[in-house]
Amino acid sequence: MTDPILKISSFSGGFAKETGDVTQILYDVSYALERGKLTAVVGETGSGKSVTALSVLGLHPPSFRHISGSICFDGIDLTSVDARELHKLRGSRISMVFQDARAALNPVFTIGRQLADTYRLHHGGSRRAAMEHAIEALRRVHIPEPESRAKQYPHEFSGGMAQRAMIAMAALICTPDLLILDEPTTGLDVTTQAEIMDLVLGLARERALTVCLITHDLGVVAETCDHVVVMNRGHVVETGSTEQIFTAPQNDYTQRLLAASQLSEAAE
Ligand SMILES: Nc1ncnc2c1ncn2[C@@H]1O[C@H](COP(=O)(O)OP(=O)(O)OP(=O)(O)O)[C@@H](O)[C@H]1O
Ligand SMILES: [Mg+2]
Repeated sequence: MTDPILKISSFSGGFAKETGDVTQILYDVSYALERGKLTAVVGETGSGKSVTALSVLGLHPPSFRHISGSICFDGIDLTSVDARELHKLRGSRISMVFQDARAALNPVFTIGRQLADTYRLHHGGSRRAAMEHAIEALRRVHIPEPESRAKQYPHEFSGGMAQRAMIAMAALICTPDLLILDEPTTGLDVTTQAEIMDLVLGLARERALTVCLITHDLGVVAETCDHVVVMNRGHVVETGSTEQIFTAPQNDYTQRLLAASQLSEAAE
């Protein structure tokens, strides 16, 4: 792989207990994201997919302890930069869409205001111009009547709409190089899931973003992703091109994961 935008190398970490001991949950996690490509991170619940991704942005829970290893973004070791530097990278170069968008939005400001404020933070300009960009971004993610929707608060949005607003924020208002999607459609109905996936991957392609997609949906992975990282119990057990992983999985766990997903598809 030539010059990946993100390289996680032997990253280990855990959570501090009240006694001060650390329970390790990530063991020498290594994977890289190739520029302009879509990489999926898969693996059963609790395998460390989210904690690893949150560590990229320095957004892991406060009790997380970094034990060893590095996370290198475009030549910058994110495990050794200070909070201000990370804050600067967030949104400007790396952005993330979480599973529960409504929880990630601020309940006390209107959607339009949140998008407009973030726009001004990154690009400057007047409040009025920023609000126009916010409304345009809502339109691009197919929110109907974006002018009046912009005046609403997060609790007035449905789950699917809040997810669209977050995608507008992460991919249009921010202009990142790397977009991390942590199960961006979980909890939505199947039709909305498919629409939102199309939308976000369409935007990513249009902007040549590097995407890291954390998902349980192996169907989406097979259809859309270039590379796959398989995690199990805090370890990366296998990485490869989507074709390699789906046609010739080497690791036992990967084989079981694929077999289980085929069983569930057959049962539908
Ligand atoms: N705040 C926390 N305190 C202690 N342990 C935590 C905390 N957050 C996560 N963990 C533990 O870290 C491990 C990895 O969790 P993580 O959320 O990364 O899993 P995941 O692969 O994203 O799972 P899922 O598919 O369910 O989202 C799990 O064992 C989890 O219980
Ligand atoms: Mg997770």
